Amino acid sequence: MDSKRQNINRSDKWLNTPELYSWLRKAAFNSQGFNPRSYENKPIIGICNSWSELTHCNQNLRQLAESVKRGIWQAGGFPLEFPVISLGEYHMKPTSMLYRNLMSIDVEESIRANPIDGVVLLSGCDKTTPAMLMGAASANIPSILVTSGPQLNGRWKTEPLGACTDCRRYEAEFKAGQINQEDWKEIQNSILRSPGHCMVMGTASTMACLSEILGISLPGNGTIPAVDSRRHQLAEQSGFQIVKLVSENMTPSKIMTDKAFENSIIGLHALGGSTNAIIHLTAIAGRLSINLPLNLFDDFSKTTPVITNLKPSGQFLMEDFHYAGGMQAVIKEINHLLNSEEKGVSGLKISELASLARNDDGNVIKSVNNPIYPEGGLAVLKGSLAPEGAVIKHSAASSNLLNHTGRAIVFNDYDNLTNEINSDNLNIKPEDILILKNSGPKGAPGMPEWGFLPIPNKLLKKGIRDMVRISDARMSGTAFGTVVVHISPESALENSPMSVVKSGDVIKLDVNNRSLELLVEPSEIRKRLKNHATKKTTNESGYTQLYKKHVLQAPQGCDFDFLRPEIK
Ligand code: FES
Repeated sequence: MDSKRQNINRSDKWLNTPELYSWLRKAAFNSQGFNPRSYENKPIIGICNSWSELTHCNQNLRQLAESVKRGIWQAGGFPLEFPVISLGEYHMKPTSMLYRNLMSIDVEESIRANPIDGVVLLSGCDKTTPAMLMGAASANIPSILVTSGPQLNGRWKTEPLGACTDCRRYEAEFKAGQINQEDWKEIQNSILRSPGHCMVMGTASTMACLSEILGISLPGNGTIPAVDSRRHQLAEQSGFQIVKLVSENMTPSKIMTDKAFENSIIGLHALGGSTNAIIHLTAIAGRLSINLPLNLFDDFSKTTPVITNLKPSGQFLMEDFHYAGGMQAVIKEINHLLNSEEKGVSGLKISELASLARNDDGNVIKSVNNPIYPEGGLAVLKGSLAPEGAVIKHSAASSNLLNHTGRAIVFNDYDNLTNEINSDNLNIKPEDILILKNSGPKGAPGMPEWGFLPIPNKLLKKGIRDMVRISDARMSGTAFGTVVVHISPESALENSPMSVVKSGDVIKLDVNNRSLELLVEPSEIRKRLKNHATKKTTNESGYTQLYKKHVLQAPQGCDFDFLRPEIK
């Protein structure tokens, strides 16, 4: 490093001052076995690692960290790996989403408090990637994201399987008696075959792919399979590149601009990505004072077709997507829709990424003229049931239910749902609309992925596989069906029309016109709201209390109010 740069390194404020602690900090490095030539006059690069044996999707991050370190050493930096809380989607109760903001604080403050000039963020599972990006955006020192990569395709007999789209599909078949116990067990052992994150276009894949178009990861990060040697090469290159970004002081706020977020929204629609990405992108942008109103998502949805043929909206899996050309090939296909001058951590503009890309399989990555779905995969609904908005992934819904009027069957909370959904006394018909209350950010709390309400067994046995389902919860990015989620304001709030919906009320869903109406006289809704008492909650303490007090609604990304700077 040249002498001029040494003076501007952030870590100099820890290591090159007259204080005794500066001297001691170097003594601490020495105690770890580093010769002073390992760190003297070098940028210190943190490797923020969410590896955990409780997060199976992040299990390869220990090995990837070693590849990142190699790149950092090669470029003349000094790597130091540190852990942060990890959020495993399968294991955490009541939901990993309850802890996304906590992890983002851990990331931000671990960076802020330490002598780090730049950071490589290692994540993989659904919430670990957004939490990393939220924390890094707030800390705003040069950063690159490396994700764990998608798992290999699952395979049962001759059939490729995707987690967890096909788990949900086969669970319904199992409950309907179409496959037996032995089949169900074999599927359990065939679907997750390698390290990495879920290999459909669920939330983890969506966020990893969007990191490329946002510019915060190197090309290829979204799709290179977790076990592919090229993922280690990408990790090594990311380690090399972060040292360069530090020398240029290329911070996240210079990469993740409002135009880059617009690109990511367009990319989200082209991918047919997860509904959860709306919440996560809004939260990440919010940390940089960038407002992403729900209408913006809907506007781009109307002009961006879904072109990737991936489950749950399509047919293929992430491994196939990578071999077809990955996210860069998608960028090539939608280049004319994007802000092409945006530049990412690779130093390349969107237009340059597009010109270097190749689409090797038109069945997996279609063109805008021959798309999978004529418009974006996600639509924003508004109306008397959701005055501040709701979201549906209509590309993964049943087309015959997109314009549907039906009788509400209301479940007051998740316990009520699980106790009643298969009750013999449940009076339900296929054309009814299932409603789940108290599943939002404050009501659940944590806005779990309860939005994919189960179809009652008695209807499954009659061959019914989809119904309109509405909630203030989220739904897994791997799920499918006519599922309306993110109702805002959520039913736990006193002003929420959803809180006063009763079984037997009529609801009209009209996705073409983007409306969701509770067909009850406004005067009656007002009367019910006046007399309504929101659900009593137990007296939480600790983190849950903090969460419920400060969490914002879905259209604000469910971030904490005190973590968002003023929005432009
Ligand atoms: Fe971690 Fe799906 S469970 S990405």
